Amino acid sequence: MKAVRVPKEEAETVRKRLLSLGVFDPSRKIIQNGELIELPITNTTEYDMIEQDRPIMRNAKVTLLQLLANVLSRDELGKLPHGWQILGDIIIVNIPTPLQKRKYEIGRALLELHPRCKTALMMKGVTGRYREPDVETIAGDDTHTIHKENGCLFKLDASKIMFSKGNLDERTRLSKFGQGIVVDMFAGIGYFSIPMAVHSNPKKVIAIEVNPLAYNYLCENIALNGVEGIVQPIQGDCLSMTPVGVADRVIMGSFEAFHYLKQGINALKSGGTLHYHETTPEKLVFERPIGRVVESAEKLDRSAKIIGLNKIKKYSPGVWHVVVDAQVF
Ligand SMILES: C[S@@+](CC[C@H](N)C(=O)[O-])C[C@H]1O[C@@H](n2cnc3c(N)ncnc32)[C@H](O)[C@@H]1O
Repeated sequence: MKAVRVPKEEAETVRKRLLSLGVFDPSRKIIQNGELIELPITNTTEYDMIEQDRPIMRNAKVTLLQLLANVLSRDELGKLPHGWQILGDIIIVNIPTPLQKRKYEIGRALLELHPRCKTALMMKGVTGRYREPDVETIAGDDTHTIHKENGCLFKLDASKIMFSKGNLDERTRLSKFGQGIVVDMFAGIGYFSIPMAVHSNPKKVIAIEVNPLAYNYLCENIALNGVEGIVQPIQGDCLSMTPVGVADRVIMGSFEAFHYLKQGINALKSGGTLHYHETTPEKLVFERPIGRVVESAEKLDRSAKIIGLNKIKKYSPGVWHVVVDAQVF
């Protein structure tokens, strides 16, 4: 079995290079032989190659708990997270407060568990108007990545841009709805616009994003996915940048969408479809979001017929992230 043998001090740089070339073999362990390190590979590279005398296979069933069994106390082991998000080659993990003093050990163990990943981030929350993640790097350093989902590529800096794993089903559902002209009012890096353009046949997707960093990634992702002729990015606030009377479909994928319902509804042609997102207290699901859509339409001398109701995910205790689909006349 093939490997690259390098001095210890060069091992991390070479490991990252092999990862970026896509030839690092995660099924075998990295072996230290004195001052030399053997990095398992699946294919030839610019580095000299050796045949390993004694390759060590990685046990696919190793768990985070097993990796940390001799490092953490029994009490700490009981608090370990059971899941985490993998965005491209970045791991994002929530660590309970009492365990955060062990964050670096947990970060290193997570990288060992997922050898194709280069960095682990501890998630502390999502803040502000741009929905920026508040994260701390706990292993590795580079936070730039390309995440692949539903046949689309999303380039982003995971320390500055969020990517909600809980919205995957909604992103997949909407990817099939790209007909006519679509306005994506809170486009981010193209979460909805790119899959629609890739998988359906929209005439145009107008993607509006206010955060300059997210907008730059949106532009890069449009090119990366080859949908330049379809997705038209607009940098700015959808309060003033949303076009009027042009859309067959409007996506309002923000928890602030309520404040922009006038713009969303005005963007629609008669008979067009609105996808309105909201975080709603359990007791008001779906009464409040339906009420808001219907009343907003009436105020604009339009009418809304509710055609779909979906719970996307539990947002916080007692609060749901929901989406209401409405046909607006
Ligand atoms: C992070 S996304 C929501 C998550 C996304 N739907 C998903 O599937 O993961 C919301 C985006 O709306 C942008 N945004 C917030 N207010 C805006 C506004 N008034 N106009 C345009 N974009 C806005 C934020 O910068 C952010 O990029």
